[in-house]
Amino acid sequence: MKENELLSDLKDWRLMLDQEGIAWATFDREGESANALGRRPIEELMKIVGRVEEGARNGEVVGLVLQSGKEKGFIVGADIREFDELKTEGAVMEAVRPVNAMLDRIENMPVPVVAAVHGVCVGGGLELILACHYRIATRDDSTRVGFPEVKLGIFPGFNGTARSIRQAGPLAAMESMLTGRMIRASAAKRMGYIDQLVDSRGALHWAARKAVLAKRKSGTASTAMTLLTKSPARKFVANKMREETAKKAREEHYPAPFRLIDLFENYGGNLDAMKAHETRLFAPLMVSETSRNLRRVFRLSELLKAQAPKGLQWKPVRVHVIGAGTMGADIAGWCVASGMEVTLQDLNEEVIAKGIKAQGRLFSKKFKTDALRKAAEARLIADPAGNGLNHADVIIEAIVEKLDIKQNLFKDIETKAKPDAVLASNTSSLMIEDIASSMSNPSRLIGIHFFNPVAQMPLVEVIRGKNSNDADVDKGCAFVTAIGKFPLIAKSVPGFLVNRVLAPYMMAALARVDKGEDMQKIDEAARAFGMPMGPVELADNVGLDVCAHVGNILGLTQEGQGGRLERLVNSGRLGKKTGEGFYVWKDGKAEKKLETYERAELERLGVELVEPLIVEAQKALDEGVVANADLVDAGVIFGTGFAPFRGGPLHYKATTQGPTPGSAARAAA
Ligand code: NAI
Repeated sequence: MKENELLSDLKDWRLMLDQEGIAWATFDREGESANALGRRPIEELMKIVGRVEEGARNGEVVGLVLQSGKEKGFIVGADIREFDELKTEGAVMEAVRPVNAMLDRIENMPVPVVAAVHGVCVGGGLELILACHYRIATRDDSTRVGFPEVKLGIFPGFNGTARSIRQAGPLAAMESMLTGRMIRASAAKRMGYIDQLVDSRGALHWAARKAVLAKRKSGTASTAMTLLTKSPARKFVANKMREETAKKAREEHYPAPFRLIDLFENYGGNLDAMKAHETRLFAPLMVSETSRNLRRVFRLSELLKAQAPKGLQWKPVRVHVIGAGTMGADIAGWCVASGMEVTLQDLNEEVIAKGIKAQGRLFSKKFKTDALRKAAEARLIADPAGNGLNHADVIIEAIVEKLDIKQNLFKDIETKAKPDAVLASNTSSLMIEDIASSMSNPSRLIGIHFFNPVAQMPLVEVIRGKNSNDADVDKGCAFVTAIGKFPLIAKSVPGFLVNRVLAPYMMAALARVDKGEDMQKIDEAARAFGMPMGPVELADNVGLDVCAHVGNILGLTQEGQGGRLERLVNSGRLGKKTGEGFYVWKDGKAEKKLETYERAELERLGVELVEPLIVEAQKALDEGVVANADLVDAGVIFGTGFAPFRGGPLHYKATTQGPTPGSAARAAA
């Protein structure tokens, strides 16, 4: 079909007019792989809106369609890279006002405005399409909408709070904004965020054309008004939301969802009032330390992903895992869930069968159809004879933590593996070069160190032994990224990065318990600091035998020194897995007394508790365990759950206390 360019000086958009008078605005940000709504694309969209208004007035334009020119993805949201430039609440308000005015103009456009969505459309992208008159999306698995703002310490700021409620009703809309979850196209249609689904990207164009010509208009949520207009009902609902949110996040650490609930409670009865007050509550969040740090965490996750080299020809497809115990079985299951084909070997066939069976839960969570689940089951192959060794792209060893047994195993693996296969050990405490010493080519071995539980922990350390090939470390990172985890390259030193910083923190806390301090108070203080779990409870979770072993390896504890940890291990009370450790465990929960502690006291204690972790993180940086301070922070946040809103241990130290005492002296020495 013949088209004319309506505006010629655009860089991030194209605006074409077809013969039927439909204007097609295609977002294709110059020089970027994804469409983020940064300053320039927004300015250009303003010009587009102006041009279409003019065309609508003079009858030249009968409708506008917004679409993406990217192969994958519609709009990934506002451009986070520009957020830091907004230093004051006033600057935030200045920046937001014209965008909201533009969205109102789109909403008030005299001709139909249709969004045609394929791929991810989140945050500011979803806010933009909610201002359109009609939204069509592909059923493709990659098509997701959502409001991830809370994860960055803010909530939707382009009037998405009110528009989402108008479309989906207060319960569903607030839930989506409070959780930040990604919503599939079919669920988004049920909710009211999307009006129509089509099967493929190819079908979008014609569906959008038809919607414009038929002047289709989205309805609004039927339940919205009743709940919204009555303030007592809203108050009740808001309180319920506060209760639910408080179960997941503390208000003093993560204020954004609580301010969003306040906004809804006070102004949700009148969507215009909600729009008007949104910016007032949004601006302080945007310039807060919490949001700044959460944005930092987002950047750190990108930094970790960038550890995998771009453009590598090698693509891992087949994985062979040896050892089907706690770690091996879950590593195998996770690789299968990420689309790979996995052979699983163990000395004991029953252990393999049990390990495979246990992956059923992961598969039912990951795969929504029977066919996909069956396909996953077929990709996980019991392999007691180790036949998979010959054709695997990645071989991961997860057998008992004994040096000579691992050495013998790799001596054998080396003779069977493909020449370009990655050979990796999941060891948590042995040195890679020691294991590799039995091999005829020791440079082939690297570490790929997963954390327990595999499905939940986002980080995987990729260990560079003294002799490891750089190319194999690169491939290790590529593999880790291919299974959807964050790789962190670390040197082969005791404890690598994560266990090395975690152990002194846990041992110092256990030493306090030995001295008679209240362990429950210790755990509560760590949580008050922002740790996901207190150190004593964590020790019980990890297993006290494992803790004692790691403590010995790192020279933090010595056998025969006594202490409650050793006594518990000797008496077989190993923590959660045996039902008793420091705590007694019932139904997967530690039994605790009902106690309340003074907040200031908890805050003081919390800071003291994390000090050994911070000191060790600095030492690890000084010794070059990972390449730089940002990677230390990234590893500690994603490997231990260290309070994300504090931006990482070294960032926290630098912003609250200045450089770690001793680090300057060490640097000077
Ligand atoms: P596990 O004891 O649960 O499983 C080890 C499995 O290896 C057993 O099923 C055993 O039958 C099998 N096995 C032993 N020798 C074998 C051989 N020569 N060939 C084939 N199979 C053999 O041990 P887990 O906890 O899974 O640990 C495995 C490795 O992962 C160890 O190196 C450990 O340090 C490391 N690791 C463990 C973590 C944990 O939290 N358990 C966390 C991170 C790493």
